[in-house]
Amino acid sequence: MEIHRYEKIWIVASIGIILFFIATIVYGSVVVGIDMVDDSGGTIDPENISENPRFSEPGVVNNSDGSVDVYMVARQFSFQPDPVKVPANTEITFHVTSADVIHGYHIVGSNVNTMVIPGQISEMTVVFDQTGEHGVVCNEYCGVAHHTMEGTVNVIPESEWGGQ
Ligand code: CUA
Repeated sequence: MEIHRYEKIWIVASIGIILFFIATIVYGSVVVGIDMVDDSGGTIDPENISENPRFSEPGVVNNSDGSVDVYMVARQFSFQPDPVKVPANTEITFHVTSADVIHGYHIVGSNVNTMVIPGQISEMTVVFDQTGEHGVVCNEYCGVAHHTMEGTVNVIPESEWGGQ
């Protein structure tokens, strides 16, 4: 079968574009660690957050293996608790849920960046290798004061971490 030269060029180009798109998805999920928001962090009844043992008084929990869990509630228009103090060079898992509408949770300067959906608990694990203060922004439009919704994560030296 004779395929015209231009047709061959377009066939190769189309396959090339498809392979490029697949490569960007693989790069995003494997190298950058981008994930779809799903139920892996668990679900919660957004109406009854105050009755949930983990989220009624959200905060930082030290685990016996040295890792740290941070339980966080987003609501119009703040994050609770705020500010958050965490140790550097430590495995920190953030569990974030919303008490009302969809919010975002982005720790600026880190790859912690997720949608926060009522009913779901977004879970992200990160190790901060440097100390310092990070701003937190909500990057989903959540109402009239969305632009004021922010927080702070303070990464302090491991040596100063007494388990606050
Ligand atoms: Cu919360 Cu925008």
